[in-house]
Amino acid sequence: MSKRITIHKLRRMKERGERIPMLTCYDYTSAKILDSLGFPLLLVGDSLGMVVHGQESTLGVTLEMMIHHCAAVSRGARSALIVIDLPFATYSASDLPLSLRTASQAIARGGAQAVKVEGGRRMAPVVGTLVASGIPVMGHIGLTPQSIHMIGGYRVQGRSEEAAERLVAAAQALEEAGAFAIVLELVPAPLAERISRMLTIPTIGIGAGPGCDGQVQVFHDIMGLDESFLPRHAKRYVNLAGAIREAAQKYLDEVREGDFPAAEHSVDFESLL
Ligand code: KIV
Repeated sequence: MSKRITIHKLRRMKERGERIPMLTCYDYTSAKILDSLGFPLLLVGDSLGMVVHGQESTLGVTLEMMIHHCAAVSRGARSALIVIDLPFATYSASDLPLSLRTASQAIARGGAQAVKVEGGRRMAPVVGTLVASGIPVMGHIGLTPQSIHMIGGYRVQGRSEEAAERLVAAAQALEEAGAFAIVLELVPAPLAERISRMLTIPTIGIGAGPGCDGQVQVFHDIMGLDESFLPRHAKRYVNLAGAIREAAQKYLDEVREGDFPAAEHSVDFESLL
């Protein structure tokens, strides 16, 4: 049995200057492939609401949806440390028992090794409570999609001096509360680099430049599964939508024409004896 990546190993990777790749993952088959490649971190992100379920935002994602997908990922990934997003309105600094119940369910039933929570300084008590109960927590600051209606749009955060200082203070507060890593989403690259240098825990950037300790991307973006949309911070490494379209079209045509199945795809009575 292969050994699972730990939060301590991730810290050592930062200390050694080894970059930390992370990718979102929502199903068993992809998890098996990504795990075999040696991804140290897989994120069962609530982005699944949008890319898997076609929802408009992450706000409609439920804990049951997260657990359902995470359990599949955990059956496929034996080495990567699996992080699960706690979904919108299932955790709060004003309801720490709720936060602990949600995180415990996510770990126990989803099979993740860590949870991710969105929010800055106000999330420090949540992080502290979960960590004190033995649950590793990844923070997430900058653009926090669960607060999209407060933020007013998917845009770069920390642009003014005051907003930048707020992000620096948030990162510090989350580290002090016990977070083992922090996602920096849509943060100006120089600010993300400053935060990364300041912290002893790893930062994982998305749209935050190369100065972070690691990078995270959404699976569907880098695999080209949505031909109609690609965020500016993402790079399409392959056009899987095109490959699927081509293969499915071929199958469709062959079934219509009677070319599939051929003799080699069929069983006769003799081969059953
Ligand atoms: O849900 C998600 O995919 C995320 C990443 C964008 C960091 O939180």
